[in-house]
Amino acid sequence: MKKADNQLLVIFGASGDLTSRKLLPSLFELYVRGLLPDRFCILGAARTAYGDEEFCAEQHTHILEAQKGKTYDEGLIDDFLENVYYLAFDSTNADEYYKLRERIEFLQEKHDLPDKIIYYLATPPVMYEIVPQCLLESGLNKTESPDGFRRIIVEKPFGTSLESARQLNDHLRHIFHEEEIYRIDHYLGKETVQNILVLRFSNGIFEPLWNHNYIDSIEISATETLGVENRGKYYDGAGAMRDMIQNHLMQLMSFIAMESPSIFEPEPIRDEIVKVFRSIRPYTVLDMDKMVVRGQYIGYREEKNVAPDSNTETYVAMKFFIDNWRWSGVPFYFYTGKKLPEKSSEVVIHFKSTPHQLFVGQCSGGSCNKLTIRIQPNESISLKFGLKMPGAGFEVKQVSMDFRYDSLSKSYLPDAYERLLLDAMLGDSTLYARSDALEASWKFIDPILLHWKEEGSKNLFFYEPGEDGPEETVILGAEKKVCACQRR
Ligand code: BG6
Repeated sequence: MKKADNQLLVIFGASGDLTSRKLLPSLFELYVRGLLPDRFCILGAARTAYGDEEFCAEQHTHILEAQKGKTYDEGLIDDFLENVYYLAFDSTNADEYYKLRERIEFLQEKHDLPDKIIYYLATPPVMYEIVPQCLLESGLNKTESPDGFRRIIVEKPFGTSLESARQLNDHLRHIFHEEEIYRIDHYLGKETVQNILVLRFSNGIFEPLWNHNYIDSIEISATETLGVENRGKYYDGAGAMRDMIQNHLMQLMSFIAMESPSIFEPEPIRDEIVKVFRSIRPYTVLDMDKMVVRGQYIGYREEKNVAPDSNTETYVAMKFFIDNWRWSGVPFYFYTGKKLPEKSSEVVIHFKSTPHQLFVGQCSGGSCNKLTIRIQPNESISLKFGLKMPGAGFEVKQVSMDFRYDSLSKSYLPDAYERLLLDAMLGDSTLYARSDALEASWKFIDPILLHWKEEGSKNLFFYEPGEDGPEETVILGAEKKVCACQRR
C-alpha cells in the first residue's frame, strides 16, 4: 500500500473528546500497522493549559482504553507518543497564531518535515469559521514550498441549514481551495459502506437488477439504543434529521443509488453522488405530513441541557423518491432514532416478487428476494431467496446466503477514522463530502426542518424508550417496513 508523504497534523480542539476517543487511537493503530508516513508528527492545540508531557500522559491512557482486548506492547504507545506534541493557546485570537507558527517551524525542523500540513478541526462548530480565518490572517493557510500542501479536515455538523452550509463553504473556499477541504462523514469510513461500491461495481450479477424493474423498495436505517447521553446541548439544537439523516444516511443512500463512475477516482465518484442528491424529488408541504414522521423518546425533555419544552426529534422515518431513469417509482425509506431496541445500521434492498406465484404460500405472498447489507454490528451481506422444503409437495422456504466479515479471519476491520485520516494524508478525498453534494443534500432537508419549525409540537409523536419508535410510522404505507428493528 502507498505510504503518505512525511507531514505534520495539527489538531485544533485537541483537549476534547473526539481527539482522545477517536483521533489519537486511530492514528496509533495506523502507526502500529506501519501506515503512517516515515516522518510524521502530531501537534495538538487547544486552550487547556497542558504541557507536551501531560497531554501525552493523558493520551496514553485513552489509547490504552481504546485497545479493547488488543494486546499491544505498551512501549509501542510511548514510541508513538514521541511524535505527539501540544500547544496551549487561544485559537480564537489571530494575534496568538505566531505561537502556532513558531511551534510548527520548530517541529518541521526537528523532524525534518516538508511543509505539508493537515489541520483538523476537532472543535465545536462555532470555531469552523474562526480558526480558518485566523490561519488566513497569519498566513498559515498557504505554503511557499512548491511541493508543500495545506489541507483542512472539518468535522460535522457542516452547517445547520442550507444557508449556513453555503456560508461556511464560501468562507472556507475563500481561505482554502476546494480540493484542500475535507468534510468528514465517519459513515463513509466504515468498511461495509465502502464495500457497497465494490459489491455493486465489481460484480456483474447485481447491476442488471439494480433498478426500478427489479427493485421494489430500499430501506436505509441507523438505529441506536443510547439516548443523547451528555450531548444534550448540541443535540437539542440538531435533532436526528441534522445529526444522522442529512449526512450519514444521505451519503449511504448515494452509494446505493449512484451510477457507476467512469473511473474509480474522487471527482468522478463525487460527480455521481451529487447527481443522486439533485434527483431526489422535493417534498410538497402535504408530502411532508404524509411521508416524514418525527418522534421524540419519552424522557428526552428531562435530559441534561435539553429544553423542558423541546420539540427536537430523536427519531425520523421518511419515504422519498429519486426521480431518474434508474429509480423511477422506487420508494426509499430512512429510519433513524435514539433509544430504540437495537443498535444497528443496515441497507435492505427488497426485490420485486416473481410476476406469477407458482407455489402455494410462496414467501407469504411477497418477494422471496432481499439483499441486506449490514453495516454494523456483525458486518455482513446476506441474500435471501426461496427454496423447496424437502419432502412432498412444493412448499417454499425463504433461506439465506450469508457473508460475514469476521469470516475473513485474518483481515483487520479498521475504524472509520483510521481510513479517513489515512486518506486525507494521501490526498484522497473520495470518501469526503464535496461542497456541491453537501448543499444539494441540505436543499432537500431544509424545507422539512422549516416545516417542523412552523408546526411546533404538532405532529411530533412520542415513543417509549426501548420501543420501536412512534406507531405513526405506519403512515408511510410501508407494509412490512416499519422499522429495521421490528422486522426481525
Ligand atoms: C454521530 C452522531 O455522527 O454518529 C451521533 O452525532 C451518533 O449522535 C453517531 O450516535 C452514530 O455513529 P455510529 O458509527 O455509532 O453509528
